[in-house]
Amino acid sequence: MHWIMNILATIALSVSIGASATTVECSIYDDVMGGKPQTSVSPAQAEKEQPAGSEWWRHAVIYEIDPRSFQDSDGDGVGDIKGITSRLDYLHDLGIDAIWITPMYPSPGIDYGYDISDYTAIDPEYGTMADFDNLVAEAKKRNIRVIMDYVINHTSDQNKWFIESRSSRDNPKRDWYIWRDGKGETATDKGEPPNNWQSWFGHSAWQWDEKTRQYYYHYFYVQQPDLNWRNPEVHKAMDGVLDFWMKRGVAGFRIDAVSRLYEDPNLHDDPYLPGHNAYGDRNIQHKYTDDLPEVHDVLKEVRSVVDKYPGDPVLVTEADEPNVQALAKMYGNGDEVQLPMDFQIADVNKLSAPCFRELFNEIENNSAHGQPEYFFSNHDQPRQWDRYGDGEHNDQIAKLMAVLELTTRGTPQMYYGEELGMRTTDPARVEDVHDPIGKLGWPKEKGRDGERTPMQWDETAEAGFTSATKPWLPIPPSASKYNVEAESKDPNSIFNTYKSLLSLRKTESALRDGTQVSIGNDPDVFAYLRKNGDETVLVLLNLSDRERTLSFKPDELPGSKLTPLYSSMPGPASIAAAHVVLSPFAAVVAKVQ
Ligand code: NOJ
Ligand code: MG
Repeated sequence: MHWIMNILATIALSVSIGASATTVECSIYDDVMGGKPQTSVSPAQAEKEQPAGSEWWRHAVIYEIDPRSFQDSDGDGVGDIKGITSRLDYLHDLGIDAIWITPMYPSPGIDYGYDISDYTAIDPEYGTMADFDNLVAEAKKRNIRVIMDYVINHTSDQNKWFIESRSSRDNPKRDWYIWRDGKGETATDKGEPPNNWQSWFGHSAWQWDEKTRQYYYHYFYVQQPDLNWRNPEVHKAMDGVLDFWMKRGVAGFRIDAVSRLYEDPNLHDDPYLPGHNAYGDRNIQHKYTDDLPEVHDVLKEVRSVVDKYPGDPVLVTEADEPNVQALAKMYGNGDEVQLPMDFQIADVNKLSAPCFRELFNEIENNSAHGQPEYFFSNHDQPRQWDRYGDGEHNDQIAKLMAVLELTTRGTPQMYYGEELGMRTTDPARVEDVHDPIGKLGWPKEKGRDGERTPMQWDETAEAGFTSATKPWLPIPPSASKYNVEAESKDPNSIFNTYKSLLSLRKTESALRDGTQVSIGNDPDVFAYLRKNGDETVLVLLNLSDRERTLSFKPDELPGSKLTPLYSSMPGPASIAAAHVVLSPFAAVVAKVQ
């Protein structure tokens, strides 16, 4: 089991204990974290005009790249910046508007780049600053924007700021991090950690430091001490990081782990939940270390720094919020982030029409009128091919999920290789694991290597990723069939499905600018209309393994004829709306006339 799912499984467990038998459980967060809103959405309400902004990110498709695994240019088995640059034409042809690159700053690599030792440099493993500048320039020529990862909650313990901080209790940077005495600490005994707070990656969130005889706080790995955002000097230094990259022409930032920025200054213990996690710790609710209100002050500050630059800079947040109200807060009054990632939809983790209907309605009607940001895969959780696949129809389901992701109103975010149907390939043996949580939690938690394997470009032994015989992670066996070269030639491939849908998003005004309204109440079929002026597109997703027949009444649709723009099943050039037959797991995108 993977790290995020681990914690979520905990929460799901307590949900099922408390939930009544009649409610559909969609979100893993239901009730435990304060309940969900009771929205009942009328189509009129849902159809109200959304603010018609013209900013680029409203129409963009973002593509997440793990620089280690996308393309190796120098044969060392590790991806690099020149490799990404060499694949910009591929991304352009696919229809990508922006790339978010996970951290490529100097780092000891304990958390694969999320432990940064220098925020304003490039890790030599990935190239040079000149390579980076060239990437931005070449991307610009192809109208592709570059979004950087802004790891704001913690640094590496090898960062010079932390090295200074830990050097003595009166070092000027001591208070840049969170240092506390142990409980019952004496001159000879380190005592107990200051409270029961736990690291997301297992065990206590407090680490004893012998030199100055205090504990420091780390929400993630021991090697990732948390910055103290209550210190104004930290704000200044981190704002400078934003300036540095904005001046180099980046289009914005994806802000890492943003809800973890502040901790309760009174160090209250977190409440326990039933059961234990994969690391053997008691399950806990991170009540006093997540989502403190001060987070929003920082988001406003980040926004004001990037807004000094032209080009509508974008902020995306990693914010696995408990419900839509908490997610909507991330938009502020239009003065925080434009695109908080929607983890509730990403993690429905089952093909449930009622759940998707409910969650899409909720975010469509969010109180901030913010633009939704949808994704299903990323570098932290098993890929969607496995997570939504039923073990038998995974390719078919992958196409259906592509339709869901790319025809809804919002900004979709893809993960490299998703367009090929790349699957999760976990290490077979603990000695092969790279991600430390995989070693700590083996075999329940195998870490995140499985979703970080190299991009599959062709059917050669190293999949066109590297000329080295041993890439940093092995090429999955499925690469011989699921790769760019082979799938480009097959009109029915997952790859060509993505390509068609990405192109439709640009050419169909209803998909580009239209409102979104769910229709019907079918237990198996999620159906919605995208509408812009006289243009209407109907999307039908049969989320079941049964054939389904639907009959739309004249008052439900502004037309009786459906002309498929995309269909995952063979069928006629037009369909009568009064009689639509959907094969198992079929996905249809049709113009309504
Ligand atoms: C979220 C990142 O996505 C994940 O990969 C990382 O381990 C944690 N933040 C800690 O930085
Ligand atoms: Mg923190």
